[in-house]
Amino acid sequence: MQQLQTPHSKLHTSEFFGRRKGRPLRKRKENLLQEMLPEKLIVLEKIASLLENKRVWLEIGFGNGEHLAELAAKNPEVLFIGCEPFINGIAGLLALIEKNNLNNIYIFNEDARLLLRALPDNSIEKCFILFADPWPKARHAKRRFICKSTLELLHRVMLDKGVLQTASDHPVLIEWIKEQFSLSPFFEEVYSGYTEPKDWCETKYQRKALAAGRACFYMNHLNLHHHNYCGDKNAESCKNCQTSVQKKPTD
Ligand SMILES: C[S@@+](CC[C@H](N)C(=O)[O-])C[C@H]1O[C@@H](n2cnc3c(N)ncnc32)[C@H](O)[C@@H]1O
Repeated sequence: MQQLQTPHSKLHTSEFFGRRKGRPLRKRKENLLQEMLPEKLIVLEKIASLLENKRVWLEIGFGNGEHLAELAAKNPEVLFIGCEPFINGIAGLLALIEKNNLNNIYIFNEDARLLLRALPDNSIEKCFILFADPWPKARHAKRRFICKSTLELLHRVMLDKGVLQTASDHPVLIEWIKEQFSLSPFFEEVYSGYTEPKDWCETKYQRKALAAGRACFYMNHLNLHHHNYCGDKNAESCKNCQTSVQKKPTD
């Protein structure tokens, strides 16, 4: 685990295990990081007011940002948060923001768990976690992003019936994701299969996987009514709770 060198370092610890920097960047991208990034960066202390009264979609691990930029261009009325600690990927997204004149994307450049812990309840309408790092070795399973604790965080921050979209080309991760969702009382599967869901935007990693002949598996889950989890006093008289799945949160 790594202590963050940010204003939040005293409060939180990053559990991000991937690369933060790749090949040296060209001058133009370096300039974008210097000049454009500061105005796009999310300040966790101010996040509630930024999101107030907005429809918000979140992409965790946006890679080079092409999926996020396409979504943002197609949905100008939505505010997007992209989360990615890999600096070359952030520079790629900034270049797309500039090229397409997008003004509805904000960036969080650290471990998404820190963002999830800071987000207000019921604030995210849709969330995308596409081609997450598979960490296929059993001894690295704890590094996989989708797990019991992150599904709990996502459940809290997502709207009732909000859509969580996941995809992978790695058989180990596909089975893992299926299992995590099947154990979770917080999400209900509404689609899974090898065909892209409706309104899909391509990702760089997906393109590479398909070109290499690897099949991609896609899943959409709905966030379930919050009474299932929060034990709200009204849960017993709530029709949603009575009709939704009977699974209980595990310890
Ligand atoms: C295999 S890449 C896929 C990128 C992109 N979604 C795509 O499909 O092209 C996984 C990405 O997730 C990012 N990532 C991994 N762990 C993360 C975390 N804890 N928080 C935010 N991003 C993370 C990595 O930096 C990497 O860019």
